[in-house]
Amino acid sequence: MASTFTRMDESTAEQWAVIGSETMTHQDRVAERVLGLLRSLEEITDGFAVDQLTHSLQTATRAERAGADDEVVVASLCHDIGKAISVPNHPEIAASILRPYVRDEVSAMIRVHQDFQGRHYYGHFGGDPDLREQHRDEDFFALAEQFADDWDQTAFDPDYDTEPLAHFEPLVRELFAKPRFVIPE
Ligand SMILES: [Fe+2]
Repeated sequence: MASTFTRMDESTAEQWAVIGSETMTHQDRVAERVLGLLRSLEEITDGFAVDQLTHSLQTATRAERAGADDEVVVASLCHDIGKAISVPNHPEIAASILRPYVRDEVSAMIRVHQDFQGRHYYGHFGGDPDLREQHRDEDFFALAEQFADDWDQTAFDPDYDTEPLAHFEPLVRELFAKPRFVIPE
């Protein structure tokens, strides 16, 4: 192991080359962390008819059966992963985890998904059920609407034939192995 810096303002290109290659060598950690967060959603039910892992698996199953592409299927699986940490800002957490690995419209679909779901419940909390309308002119609107209306809001059925996590694991490992960028675009 080459000697490395103790403060960044003394770092060299060679040292950063080592860090870059070590980071890429351990890229498979990302998929394992994501799978661990997904498994942890089994502990969260919070009044719904199914736990959050089942809900996530069912959302992804519905997307896959509708013919969605791999990025959309994995994003569907991970859309509520932020709930493992914090429910109020869970869409931003999930979108941020996904952003280096999927095209922009897919991470946007996750970032805004709660405002689309809000049609069914924001009114019960004194909010605006039509908040999705603020995104009406965006390129991702149609995809976000399909995700929310066809796959996410319908995925609370304990009797649905939901695929297990093992079904999606190869896809999760494949997608999180290849970041589209290393430093922010
Ligand atoms: Fe959801």
